[in-house]
Amino acid sequence: MSLFDEVGGSHFFDRLVDRFYEGVVTDDVLLPMYPEQSDLSGAKERLKLFLQQYWGGPTTYSDERGHPKLRQRHFPFVIGERERDRWMVHMMAAVDELSPNEAVHQQLMEYMAMASTAMVNTRRETI
Ligand code: HEM
Repeated sequence: MSLFDEVGGSHFFDRLVDRFYEGVVTDDVLLPMYPEQSDLSGAKERLKLFLQQYWGGPTTYSDERGHPKLRQRHFPFVIGERERDRWMVHMMAAVDELSPNEAVHQQLMEYMAMASTAMVNTRRETI
């Protein structure tokens, strides 16, 4: 059984990403990075679709956007340790709030930590 099925399907990822973005909108480092700051609905939708696909759900993300190539898609944004850490704070809070079972919690946390570190594209201090 995929993690997607284990958490009950796309509703879990909708809630996760909604909660994550509640953090992002309060974040003075992350929010200014978004090209569509005043309307984050598109960004939210893309993250929801990507995560559900990654964890074994419908492949709508790739049907609409093609191969994820996430590192490449993040090149326009300067992501240093600071941005990565802020992203993780909001994602960890979101995962915690949904209180999935221990095994799911651990898999999500490990993946998010790995993926956010992989997205870092500058060694320069961004502070
Ligand atoms: C490390 C810190 C990160 C920062 C600062 C960051 C920031 C951003 C920004 C500013 C965008 C553009 C918003 C938009 O789509 O309109 C974006 C897009 C996106 N991000 Fe991130 N991101 C980070 C990490 C991640 C991680 C770890 C993932 C996946 C687990 C992810 C998944 C996505 C996806 C799926 C998109 C939409 C790509 C597309 O189809 O165009 N991001 N991110």
